[in-house]
Amino acid sequence: MTALKTIETRASPPRLDLPAPDAGALDLILRAAMAAPDHGRMRPWRFVVIEENRRAAFADMLTASLRRRKPESSDEVLAAEGRKVFRAPLIVTIAARVLREHKVPEIEQVLAVAAAVQNMILAAHELGFAAMWKTGPAAYDPEVKRALGLQADDQIVAFLYLGTAAGMPAPRQQPGENLVTRL
Ligand SMILES: Cc1cc2nc3c(=O)[nH]c(=O)nc-3n(C[C@H](O)[C@H](O)[C@H](O)COP(=O)(O)O)c2cc1C
Repeated sequence: MTALKTIETRASPPRLDLPAPDAGALDLILRAAMAAPDHGRMRPWRFVVIEENRRAAFADMLTASLRRRKPESSDEVLAAEGRKVFRAPLIVTIAARVLREHKVPEIEQVLAVAAAVQNMILAAHELGFAAMWKTGPAAYDPEVKRALGLQADDQIVAFLYLGTAAGMPAPRQQPGENLVTRL
């Protein structure tokens, strides 16, 4: 595919099935991430790969996070929270490790990590896989960060769900005229 075709045809499927990107594909996806624009070449990105057989451990983290935030949650609601991670066979957590008091503003360091996530999504699509960018309240929970081996002040930018598209996502709307102005 041309780069433009890859961008134009990318979409987030509601569910991702096997096969997941294998080790070679994941390596290409991670290399695409690290090719993102990065002011000051600070390499602010950190990746935590959660393979299929570790999803249950990740589900436990999300369930525990919800229980801490909303202790009144029923067992049913907690179980539903845990089940979410089984919607994809591979998940990569992408975090920004930001240097404070640096001449590159913090927001630019985080933006570089967001660009890395988008590169990963496009690389996955180009390789025949699909991805969905997720966050949610657990992404901001210091205990979740700790359990993932991150630092408390790292900023989780994405839980990137990866796999093979199950079902066709809805067609994308063309950009509205009023979103683009000319000076
Ligand atoms: C920073 C960020 C966080 C997101 N978090 C979620 C999320 O937690 N849950 C969700 O359903 N979609 C989330 N999305 C949006 C989806 O990944 C997706 O882009 C959106 O549903 C639009 O679909 P499309 O990618 O097919 O255009 C997030 C997007 C971004 C950029």
